[in-house]
Amino acid sequence: MRSFAYLTFLGFFVVFGQASLLDDILNALETVVDCAGCNDVLLPPLQTVAHLGNDAFVATLTSVCQLLGAADDDVCAGELERSGPLVAHALRALDAGGTTAMKFCEATFGLCQQPPITPFMVSIPKPAPENATRFLSRGRTPFQVVHFSDVHIDREYTVGADANCTKNICCRDFADHTGPITEPAGPFGNSQCDSPIDLAQSMLGAVGSLGKGAKFAIFTGDVVEGDTWLVNKSDATVDLMAWNDQMANSIGLTVYPSIGNHDSAPVNSFPRNTTVTTIDSQWVFDTQSSGWQQWIGNAAAEQVDHISGSYAINVPDTTLKIISLNTQYWYKQNFWLYDNNNQIADPNGLFAFVIEQLQSAEDESQRVWIIGHIPSGKADFAHDQSNYYDQIIQRYKNTIAAQFFGHSHMDQFEVAYSDWDNQTTETADSILFIAPALTPTSGNPAFKIYDVDPDTFEVIDAKVFSSTYLPVASPSRGYHIHRTLHTANISDPSFQTGPTWELYYSARDTWGPLVGNLGPSDPLNASFWHKLTEVFETNETAFQLYNTHLSRGGRVTACTDDCKTATICDLRAARSENNCVCLPTHGRGHGLDNHFRTWPLLD
Ligand SMILES: *[C@@H]1O[C@H](CO)[C@@H](O)[C@H](O)[C@H]1NC(C)=O
Ligand SMILES: *[C@@H]1O[C@H](CO)[C@@H](O)[C@H](O)[C@H]1NC(C)=O
Ligand SMILES: *[C@@H]1O[C@H](CO)[C@@H](O)[C@H](O)[C@H]1NC(C)=O
Ligand SMILES: *[C@@H]1O[C@H](CO)[C@@H](O)[C@H](O)[C@H]1NC(C)=O
Ligand SMILES: *[C@@H]1O[C@H](CO)[C@@H](O)[C@H](O)[C@H]1NC(C)=O
Ligand SMILES: *[C@@H]1O[C@H](CO)[C@@H](O)[C@H](O)[C@H]1NC(C)=O
Ligand SMILES: *[C@@H]1O[C@H](CO)[C@@H](O)[C@H](O)[C@H]1NC(C)=O
Ligand SMILES: *[C@@H]1O[C@H](CO)[C@@H](O)[C@H](O)[C@H]1NC(C)=O
Repeated sequence: MRSFAYLTFLGFFVVFGQASLLDDILNALETVVDCAGCNDVLLPPLQTVAHLGNDAFVATLTSVCQLLGAADDDVCAGELERSGPLVAHALRALDAGGTTAMKFCEATFGLCQQPPITPFMVSIPKPAPENATRFLSRGRTPFQVVHFSDVHIDREYTVGADANCTKNICCRDFADHTGPITEPAGPFGNSQCDSPIDLAQSMLGAVGSLGKGAKFAIFTGDVVEGDTWLVNKSDATVDLMAWNDQMANSIGLTVYPSIGNHDSAPVNSFPRNTTVTTIDSQWVFDTQSSGWQQWIGNAAAEQVDHISGSYAINVPDTTLKIISLNTQYWYKQNFWLYDNNNQIADPNGLFAFVIEQLQSAEDESQRVWIIGHIPSGKADFAHDQSNYYDQIIQRYKNTIAAQFFGHSHMDQFEVAYSDWDNQTTETADSILFIAPALTPTSGNPAFKIYDVDPDTFEVIDAKVFSSTYLPVASPSRGYHIHRTLHTANISDPSFQTGPTWELYYSARDTWGPLVGNLGPSDPLNASFWHKLTEVFETNETAFQLYNTHLSRGGRVTACTDDCKTATICDLRAARSENNCVCLPTHGRGHGLDNHFRTWPLLD
């Protein structure tokens, strides 16, 4: 099969007199080990093929992917058919050796370091007021808010299909499946598969009962399942609409949603509004504008449509404003962003939009929650834009009560600081809460319920509810979600009858006594979470508990020494340039194959 593809491919190029290009790319991928090599050896043949046109680029890179065995043949073909044109578009525009090329080589192949931040000062309309409003708790009874994320519902999940496969998600009747079924997919999910509809429905039922009486819910994106080599615009549209209906029909709460990187097709595809292309993502905004209108009203629905999927809304009967951001214009894996050698600081004017909304909130003494998909400190959040975003957070930190994200699939938090060179309890000034995922691919399915102070809108407690029916353990965890095969215990009776959702832990009850000195109405604010990172440094038991909580006790990975140091560093890095995610060291051939492998399959 592979040698056949190789011959067909050579035939194609021999006809056009370009037989050497494929070899050049393969050789480059085998030999290049650093940034200079990426610029001098790898980019030139890739750019030459890109200039031959999208079809030639897709055909060539599909062969490269298949010859390297980077993924199953159909996965290589589907991924390249979808994302290849975006990458080719970037390659035609960027200059090897330039800053954008460095970013491209870093994001795509892990061959360059991030270039230094391109300095840019966001434009702030007014300086911080000297008489800023003080938001004081009156110790009133908190209200509840439910937070769920990364549902990744596979509407073609097939009970009885093989959960053991070599693709990004299993539990489907794939055409190339051969042999007996080694691990039949159960009715409520499997750790090698995205969520069946019944699992999502089970969670919504739990949200409806455990979250009964909550003021509202937030959903921080990623509806569409992980078969990125198959998903097209019509599949994604059906997924988005069906999930909006499912939420509307099941929980009886207003939902404030955000768009995730999987909520487009091709995955991660959000071109800037000045990009000339036939592959747009306005259909995502149209779909969500009409789907979300029932919760966010007409004015915010208009914003979703016209402000690239972002909106702001005043929560009725409160002085809380929610700003929901489409973070995908700041995402390293959105390949549209590499089509210009000059830094575009604020794609589609989203920073300008946030600033305008925060300034009006400050003027009106409102408090703000920012919600979105990708947290600003993650390794896949563009360094430049994370730096500019942090400038906004620092200016409006008095107005912003908290921020809420998803994307990592892990139960995490991130702290921002007024002085990044001096991270202390006193300089900690903004907190990001990160929700665990529903999809069982990276731990047990879970969601959070917050207790919120009705005067300050700060978080008093974060309770995680989880369904622990997936008895799994995994040896690997990282920035990419590595898949390892293991057996879910389908003989466990609860697996067949459905998940039981129960309180996994309360952050206040678990961490409060360790941090100490927490008064009854003191919030779990940035100072609190910074202090907790200090506890983790000295109390190994506490850190290991956090490590277990990350994946809700499923697929727990050992984390000590360097891993622990890096994990604590990341908790203190709401700005991605401050995180400690290191590039893996590259070996000849093998390491690069691994990098190539990750390109089309990134989450
Ligand atoms: C702060 O001072 C400005 C100018 O003196 C005034 O217009 C504004 O109302 C004051 N804001 C608050 C919250 O007191
Ligand atoms: C998964 O499938 C592979 C290849 O089909 C097989 O070798 C392996 O034993 C299976 N694993 C399990 C847990 O059944
Ligand atoms: C999208 O994919 C589905 C299968 O998932 C297929 O039935 C449909 O024809 C495709 N639509 C387009 C426009 O390619
Ligand atoms: C495109 O983005 C720019 C900011 O980069 C913004 O000013 C403009 O209004 C946007 N245009 C449209 C049509 O959305
Ligand atoms: C770091 O911050 C602390 C607390 O705000 C302060 O006391 C200390 O002087 C600062 N150190 C430096 C080097 O700025
Ligand atoms: C967090 O809350 C404590 C207790 O109320 C307070 O002393 C501290 O200043 C707060 N920190 C921030 C960053 O708001
Ligand atoms: C699987 O679950 C069954 C029933 O709960 C239990 O008896 C068995 O020990 C479990 N097997 C493993 C490998 O955990
Ligand atoms: C460390 O944390 C554990 C809980 O994870 C707690 O039981 C223990 O008391 C803590 N140790 C110290 C010295 O605070």
